[in-house]
Amino acid sequence: MKTTVKTICNFILITVISCSNSERQGGITGSSANRDNQETEITYVPGMSLCKAASYPVGVAVSAEKLGDSRYAGVVRREFNSVTAENQMKMAYISVAPGKYDWERADAIVAYAEKNNTRVHGHALLWHESLPPWVENFEGTDEEFEAEIKTYIQAVVEHFKGKVASWDVVNEAIEEDGSWRNTVFLQHMGEDYVARCFRWAREADPGVLLFYNDFNLSSNPVKAQAAADMLKGFQDRGVPVDGVGMQMHIQVETPAISKIADAVNIFTEMGLIVHFSEIDTRLNADDKLTELTYEAALAQENRLGEIVDMYNTIPESQQYGITFWGLRDNESWLLSRYGTDWPLLFTETYEYKIAHRGVIRAFE
Ligand code: G3I
Repeated sequence: MKTTVKTICNFILITVISCSNSERQGGITGSSANRDNQETEITYVPGMSLCKAASYPVGVAVSAEKLGDSRYAGVVRREFNSVTAENQMKMAYISVAPGKYDWERADAIVAYAEKNNTRVHGHALLWHESLPPWVENFEGTDEEFEAEIKTYIQAVVEHFKGKVASWDVVNEAIEEDGSWRNTVFLQHMGEDYVARCFRWAREADPGVLLFYNDFNLSSNPVKAQAAADMLKGFQDRGVPVDGVGMQMHIQVETPAISKIADAVNIFTEMGLIVHFSEIDTRLNADDKLTELTYEAALAQENRLGEIVDMYNTIPESQQYGITFWGLRDNESWLLSRYGTDWPLLFTETYEYKIAHRGVIRAFE
């Protein structure tokens, strides 16, 4: 009963807050007293939405189907002003065959965004883990392969021109030791393939922002430096690049915030825009928890607070925003990969976890 009443109050309280309006509205502070009364609860009643609290876009990874659910879309609309397709703008979802595309689900996400004054970040033009069979098993020459990849990149960027603000042009091209990942793209196109993909994307849309996106950049200095060296080389050679996506699939304890700051500094000092592009915070890496305890939820709140505090130190002109890799804990990719965990900001029943409060308090 108590949870139901709180959920209803929660819904009523913040329904009036929406980020689809362009102007920034003050949040409802009446719930601040509630926060103090819920010190032992893993959820709380918020006084402000994420995108109203933040001075830069706050995003979430979505799917067309989930946005078709009114409850889900209602929370996304209230809390976020940027969306990334978790999967449906990847090559395996769009490319049916050479020169043949399925835009349906990606267009549905864009349609939601246009209707709700929401930015769309495109993810990802090339990623070795999301390949249609015709790419994975390509039987033509390297020249024919490259021509098809160029055609694909330019068709996608042109299709979403003026609708997608930015692209992860290439995702995860670098290994943990800083070497090139031996992907089908490297095998057919050679080490310069990443640069050529950025040039092709820029040719297709002079106005779209172009990002390199990867994981463990915040925890692996060798990998971060290798990415920085690649991007510095782009800058020196006039290869168009605007920013770096640091995925931020992190744990509550690691990496140390100082390590994250060191990695961020490498990229900001190069003049790059920085996107914390896929944030989730594992609480149960040691697999000891069978339920979300208050202690774990509080640790997550504090962790998100320090992460956002850190992000807020980036020069404003280089803040692309922060994007959470999913809405509700039960939807996270981490559960199928690693098992029981609670890595996101909302419970399965759309209650606001105190992790949400950790983000909000970083803006107070
Ligand atoms: O939709 C089908 C469903 O019909 C089928 O029954 C089911 C079982 O096979 O698979 C479902 O598709 C899955 C899809 O997620 C939607 O849930 C795919 O198998 C699964 O591979 C896919 O995983 C995604 C993964 O990327 C691989 O593309 C995750 O949702 C997504 O969160 C994850 O995101 C990546 C980023 O793009 C890049 N950075 C790392 C991050 C985590 O791996």
